[in-house]
Amino acid sequence: MKISVCIGSSCHLRGSYDIIQRLKELVARDHLEDKVELSAAFCLGQCTHGCTIRIDEEIITGVTKDNIEGILQKALAEGK
Ligand code: FES
Repeated sequence: MKISVCIGSSCHLRGSYDIIQRLKELVARDHLEDKVELSAAFCLGQCTHGCTIRIDEEIITGVTKDNIEGILQKALAEGK
């Protein structure tokens, strides 16, 4: 799956850097290097809804460094 984390200014201020770091940790911990492709994205047009990421074509808002693990597990469970 391809995960893009928004690094637009609004998401950046809300902690997208921490989300990227956390995702890198999770990918390394669970050996997901072959499954997960991480990248950064510019504004995904959801600035008012908290940090935004895109998993494949799905936009997910309100992401934090604390809930990203659950979001990742769910996406994996869905076979993404
Ligand atoms: S800055 Fe992230 S959605 Fe706009």
